[in-house]
Amino acid sequence: MAARPGRGPHARARPRPAPPARRPLRDRHHRRPRAARPRRDPRRRARCHRSSRTARGLPRGPPAPPRPRRPGSRRRRPRHRPAPRGAPVTDIPTTHRRATAVLDEVDTVVVGKRAATEVVLAAVLAGGHVLMEDYPGLGKTLAARTFATTLGLDFTRAQFTPDLLPSDLTGSFVYDQGRGGFEFRHGPVFTGLLLADEINRTPPKTQAALLEAMQEHQVTVEGQTFPLPRPFHVLATANPVEYEGTYPLPEAQLDRFLVRVAFGYPDADEEWQVLSRRMERRQEDQQARQVVDPAQLLEMQGALEDVTVAPEVGRYCVALARATRGHEHVLMGSSPRGSLALLLVGRALAVVRGRDYLAPDDVKTVAPAVLEHRVVVRPELWMTEVTSGSVVADVLRTVPAPRVTVQER
Ligand SMILES: Nc1ncnc2c1ncn2[C@@H]1O[C@H](COP(=O)(O)OP(=O)(O)OP(=O)(O)O)[C@@H](O)[C@H]1O
Ligand SMILES: [Mg+2]
Repeated sequence: MAARPGRGPHARARPRPAPPARRPLRDRHHRRPRAARPRRDPRRRARCHRSSRTARGLPRGPPAPPRPRRPGSRRRRPRHRPAPRGAPVTDIPTTHRRATAVLDEVDTVVVGKRAATEVVLAAVLAGGHVLMEDYPGLGKTLAARTFATTLGLDFTRAQFTPDLLPSDLTGSFVYDQGRGGFEFRHGPVFTGLLLADEINRTPPKTQAALLEAMQEHQVTVEGQTFPLPRPFHVLATANPVEYEGTYPLPEAQLDRFLVRVAFGYPDADEEWQVLSRRMERRQEDQQARQVVDPAQLLEMQGALEDVTVAPEVGRYCVALARATRGHEHVLMGSSPRGSLALLLVGRALAVVRGRDYLAPDDVKTVAPAVLEHRVVVRPELWMTEVTSGSVVADVLRTVPAPRVTVQER
């Protein structure tokens, strides 16, 4: 039997529109202009959408049994099959591709800091907050701003001054005269990426308000709790040389930062590149491209759960953290939060580097950024060469790393 044009019994009665004049190929799939389309019969629509019982005003009958399948016909699959609950939405290769694209884009703005930006991104992928502690003018603010743009996050900058109050950060209730009541006005902490600039310049009360928001992912004001958006990350900067008028973060609060990253001075070639790029673009502002959006960032964070961690590499994280506790120069070593951070940031770095398993080398790379700010050197050694950096370097040298190869897994 010849196939009839259209679908359903009503299609038979419909006059077939004259075939349109031959259009160029690229125009074939365009819709016809409204006026050229044949008008539908409004009764037809009603009959199509209402069952014969409801059309006659009768109550709906029981649901019709499924139509038997014709032998040999193929079962139709639903077009979109949602992933089973708990399954990763994004796989590791996709996460690696996106992470590389983000870092490449950051490189177009921040010169010669790939090792540091890799660790910053690994910490963000691991869901944490970053403290960037270094001398002025090394591109910390620039890097934070560029990450916000490339990750597609709302960006807010809060300058931590001595007179900053907790409510300046979290928000507060204000009286709305129009409505005759109080309403909550959200503070700058309600954002995707908060640049907490010079966090050590504000008194402990305000620091505590920020650190609480970082830890709890929520803000409580006047007994009411307001959840922060997700993703929410803090990139805080601090200047390590100035002590006058500063409030160094206590160790217990430093622990809230997943990593502490130092940028360091660029070498002569890199510094010249900063200058030459500035002359090329003929303006101060530099703008990076957005590479992912917040939903994709959340997917990337979820994909890390699939990274394989061999027990001996997990135990290596534990051994490193424990070795800081037993070190002769140390007053207070890393807590288990530190060993967990080694595992989480190391796992993220493995994906950034294109692997789906944690290697001891990943742990070694992130160890200084993860452990140094969690180690307190004995006060009597403050005038010597001993620093938390030298302690972590010592620990990395003395704790034997397991031998894990891909074949052994
Ligand atoms: N690695 C770099 N790549 C590109 N530009 C850089 C780099 N380092 C410094 N700059 C330039 O130096 C300027 C100062 O950088 P930025 O404001 O980010 O420094 P900072 O580390 O935040 O300093 P501060 O601690 O005083 O806030 C930037 O505008 C940028 O042009
Ligand atoms: Mg700055």
